[in-house]
This record gives sequence, structure tokens and C-alpha cells, in this order.
Amino acid sequence: MSEQAETLANLSYEERRFEPPADLAADANLKADAYEEAAADRLAYWEKQADRLDWDTRWERVLDWDDPPFAKWFVGGKLNAAYNCVDRHVEAGAGDKVAFHWVGEPEDDTRDLTYAQLKDEVCKAANALTELGVRTGDRVAIYMPMIPETVVTMLACARLGAPHTVVFGGFSAEALASRIEDCDARVVVTSDGGYRRGAPSALKPAVDEACAIAEKTGHTVTKVLVVRRTGQDIDWTDERDVWWHDVVDPASTEHQCEFFDSEHPLYVMYTSGTTGKPKGILHTTGGYLVGAAYTHWGVFDLKPETDVFWCTADIGWVTGHSYVVYGPLANQATSVMYEGTPDSPHKGRWWEIVEKYGVTIFYTAPTAIRTFMKWGDDIPAKFDMSKLRVLGSVGEPINPEAYVWYRKAIGGDRTPVVDTWWQTETGMILISPLPGVTAGKPGSAMTPIPGVVADVVNDEGQSVPDGSGGYLVLKEPWPAMLRTLWGDDQRFKDTYWSRFPGMYFAGDGAKKDEDGDIWLLGRVDDVMNVSGHRLSTTEIESALVSHPKVAEAAVVGATDPMTGQAPCAFVILRESAGDGGEDIVAELRNHVAKEIGAIAKPRQIMVVAELPKTRSGKIMRRLLRDVAEKREIGDVTTLADSTVMDLIGQGMAASS
Ligand code: WT7
Repeated sequence: MSEQAETLANLSYEERRFEPPADLAADANLKADAYEEAAADRLAYWEKQADRLDWDTRWERVLDWDDPPFAKWFVGGKLNAAYNCVDRHVEAGAGDKVAFHWVGEPEDDTRDLTYAQLKDEVCKAANALTELGVRTGDRVAIYMPMIPETVVTMLACARLGAPHTVVFGGFSAEALASRIEDCDARVVVTSDGGYRRGAPSALKPAVDEACAIAEKTGHTVTKVLVVRRTGQDIDWTDERDVWWHDVVDPASTEHQCEFFDSEHPLYVMYTSGTTGKPKGILHTTGGYLVGAAYTHWGVFDLKPETDVFWCTADIGWVTGHSYVVYGPLANQATSVMYEGTPDSPHKGRWWEIVEKYGVTIFYTAPTAIRTFMKWGDDIPAKFDMSKLRVLGSVGEPINPEAYVWYRKAIGGDRTPVVDTWWQTETGMILISPLPGVTAGKPGSAMTPIPGVVADVVNDEGQSVPDGSGGYLVLKEPWPAMLRTLWGDDQRFKDTYWSRFPGMYFAGDGAKKDEDGDIWLLGRVDDVMNVSGHRLSTTEIESALVSHPKVAEAAVVGATDPMTGQAPCAFVILRESAGDGGEDIVAELRNHVAKEIGAIAKPRQIMVVAELPKTRSGKIMRRLLRDVAEKREIGDVTTLADSTVMDLIGQGMAASS
């Protein structure tokens, strides 16, 4: 066998399969025939999904793709997203149903919000925003903690047809200012602060600073609406700042909503691109809401009558938009929403919440799962999580060990794990197992969901055969797809539609296994080329994490004079492994060689205490590449903890 063939064969070493539980399969929302139905007539299938929503005016055409890549879905249809998420459920008699079990970080600081209460709050906020000058089409920036008012504000904006742009509360004032400027938001909604890790964490000062930064470029924020959450001291600008309790609380709960065109902008969500300037991903109303509702119902098998759904994502990210707010509410779900960190005041906090509210469907990210793995099985074992029936993962490829741990330690070895692939741009899950259909393979996102057409192609854009790798593309438009980049149609075309004409290029590497199932290999910029062989950082990380002493690993491709690139690994050992023993590096290199092939052996392995992560939990490989290539370390401002790089740098100096 050639070295490359051997490597490829070893990449498919994962043999474990997890069949759907029989009862779930029998009663699943999506069954195997959905694939056939969607393939037979894709647009008719989507049209059927659109009937999940309440339309004021029905569409005339399902899809207008006459001017690609600019799609229009449910053309001519009119609807209101907030009406669909709230009012119609109240009108249908579900007003007393809990929309959110909200859990603040301080213990016993909880609040249940019914659909009827949510409707009143949204109407009041819509009236107050109107008073503050917000009109249909105006952009409103939201910089908030995970509190009910954040959802209320988003829905109030949607109700008014004023696109919101939620900026994650962990972003800096600079980042907030650039987003406010880019989409020209005049009103900002924020709070004094929120609770994180047992203490109040301020937000308003960053808004003050962002307004000052924006002012310098001639951009005036006219109103800042402030929720009092922590009661901490904040500066106040009288002519600009307004307390939520002064204007929203006394406002009328009567608000007549208007119905907007299906393609009316719903929100802009910024995400980083390959250049410094963040991209403003534009999502519109009809198609987005159809996509969020359909996937939330189908991929998680949501039964609104009995399920309690919890997506742990922050609302500042697209996952929070689609699976904390729009999908669950459109489906009349009962959800949990939690303000704080998983370890406050103790490392079992999440599982305590799962037990207390009887969570049945749980959706989180691999980085969190690996953290819990590191903390040990005994923590989740203390809680009764027997109601859980579906687990989800999103954000990065989930390594098989983490997948299996998640299924066992959290899901009692009973729950299917849906590894859901999607992006800020896609608005909705596109590739995922179906919990009642798919025999899951740990580490694989499996297949495009019914209605979605994806493929893996080579450099020439040709579909690769099973057993080979390439680039992930979408071959047909889907309802929740981004419509453009805010104010930059050209960048939209260049970024996503120019690499492979007629196809959406996701920027991810992927492979099809012998069964044709899809394995994501990370961003193509994280795929390295070693002696002409393509290797994924993810695959090597996965191999490292499968070693019993390793808790977490990050691998980068560093420039190498001999091989082009060489893998360099940074690993965090499990607490139980102590310092790993003196031969830990050799042991791990050999382990990788055994798991994947000699070619994947890291050139260098550094044992570290922490990895540099963004506030959303993504490892910043760029910084590790700087370390591995002995360069000056680049911009660390988006790190959750910027001191991590100092520690790694010192470790590096000590070991060389
Ligand atoms: C990128 C999108 C929308 C989810 C939150 C992240 C990676 C996401 C998976 C998965 C492998 C995944 C991809 C994608 N990614 N989910 N299940 N398996 N990779 O949204 O910040 O827009 O990032 O996250 O690389 O392109 P995002």
C-alpha cells in the first residue's frame, strides 16, 4: 500500500455505529422517506416546510434563482417573524405554555416566561423602540447578556421590520463600534452588565466607548436603551441613554404588527473572514424562518408538547439566533436559557439544570464536551439526566472520543448524537444525522438533511468518489442561505461563489467515506499539506485526544523546509495523567503514527496548560502557528484570555 493510501485507509478507522433507538425511530418527525420525498421534488418539499409558518400573504413562487447567487425564497409572500414566534401560539391557546425557563447565573435567580408574557413584553418593547425613533428598515445593535430582554429585543425588532445585529457580549468596544458603523445602527440596546463566573461583568462601558469611537468617524448613536441587570455603577449620557424600565415597562402591550415581504431583512450577523474586516451576513425573513423551524423540528425531533430543549449557545452567535430564538419559538417549544458559565458556582451546573428542568434535547459544542471530559465522569454522574433523548453537537468536528463520551456520560448510552454541520452563512443546519433514521458514526456529520444538496469536490469542482477528500460545496440554494454580505455584493460573490462556479463554497475540507458519508476536516486553511499528502489538523487532534492521557489537543501545520508543512501539536493532559511521564512526547507521537500513519506524526508536541481560544471557544490556530513557526505572536485581542499566549510562549522558550 502506498503511504497515501495507508493514511487514507487509517482515516476511516472509526468502526463504531450507533443505531437509532427503536421507539425514537418509530415516532420520529423525519423518517427515511423524507430523503426520497425531497429528492423527488425539492421545491415542493420546501414549500411544504413553509407551511409550518403562518403567512399573511402566500408566496407566488418558491424560489427565484434567476440572478444567481442572489436567491429569493417564497417570493411575494408576506409574514411577520415575531408574530410567528409568539402571537400565533397565544392565539392558538398556548399562552400559558412556558417559552423559556430562564436561569440566571446567581443561584435561585430564575424566571419562567410563558408565550403570553413573551407576547406582552415584545409588544411593549416594539412600542418603546418606536418611541425611540426606530422605523422599519433601521438597524438596531444589541449587546446583551443571556437574559430574557435579549430575546424580547430581537423579536421587537423583527416585529417592526428593523433588522437587528446582535454583537456577542464578549467582543470589545472596537469590535462593537466597527459593527455599529458597518451596518449604520443608530440605536443600541444593552444592559449594565451580566453575571459571569460568579461576578457582575460590565457591558455598558463598552457601549459608551463604542459610541465614542463611532462618533469620531461621524457616526452618531442617538439612543442607548439599557436594561438594569446587575445594578452596577455605570456612566450615563442624559440625552442619549434611556433605562429599559422607564420606557419599556410602562409601554402598551397592544401592538399591531405589520407583515413584511418574505425577503425583508431580518438580521445581520458578523463573522470573521480571511481578511481583517468582519463580514455582515444578511439573513431575510421567510426563508430563514422556514429553515430554522424545519431543522429544529426535524434534526432534533422536537415534540413541542413534551420536549424541553436546551441549546447552550450564546445568543450573540448564529447558533443562538437559530436554535435559542427563532427555531424553538417558531415551533412553540419550551426551552432553557442560561446566563452564565458552566462552572459557576460548581462544575456540575449544566447537569443540575438538565435535571431540574427535565431537559430532553440538549445542544452544545465539542469544546464544551471536551472540557467536561477533562473534569471527569463523576460530575455528570451525580445528576439524573434520564429524560435526555437527543444530543447535538455543533461548531467544529467532534472527535470520536468526545462523541462517545458525550453519548455515554451525558446521554446514558441511549441518546443519538446529531453532529450538525452548518455556518453563520447557512443560517440553518445542513448536514447532520437524523436521530430516528441514521446509524451514527462518531465523528461524521453523515449526510445532507432532506432538502439540501451538498457534495465534496476536487480542485476542478468535480464530485470526488467515495473514499476520497476534497472541498465541501452546496449545489442548490436552501431557504435560510445568506442573501449577501451587508453592503458588499461583490465580496459575497467572491468569497462564496467564485471558487467553484455555480456552487457555494463553504471553506471546509471534507471527505466521503466508503459509504459516501461526509466527514468534515476543518477549514481548508487548517488542512495542511505534508510531503504532498493532505492531512487534517482535526484528524490529528482526534488521534491525540483518543490517547488516554490527553484531554485536549490543537494541531497546526507549520512551514517546514523539508516537507512543505509539518504538524505541530499542543496538548492539554488529563488531570489523572499528572505530568504525563518523561516519555510523553514520544508516546504521543507514536500514538498518532499508530492511529493515522507515520506521515501524521507531529514534528513537535508541546504540553500546555491552556489553549488559546476565542470567546466562542474556537481554538486560534493562527496564534499557535506563530509559536510553532517561531514568529512574533500576532493579534491576541479576540482571545477569551490573552494571558494564555504568554504562558505558551514561556513554555516554548523553556523547552527549546
Ligand atoms: C464553521 C462555521 C453554525 C455553527 C456555529 C459555528 C465549522 C461548524 C461543524 C460540525 C465540523 C463544523 C466549520 C464551519 N463547523 N459545525 N458539526 N463539524 N465543522 O458557526 O462560526 O459560522 O463557523 O464551523 O468549519 O465552516 P461559524
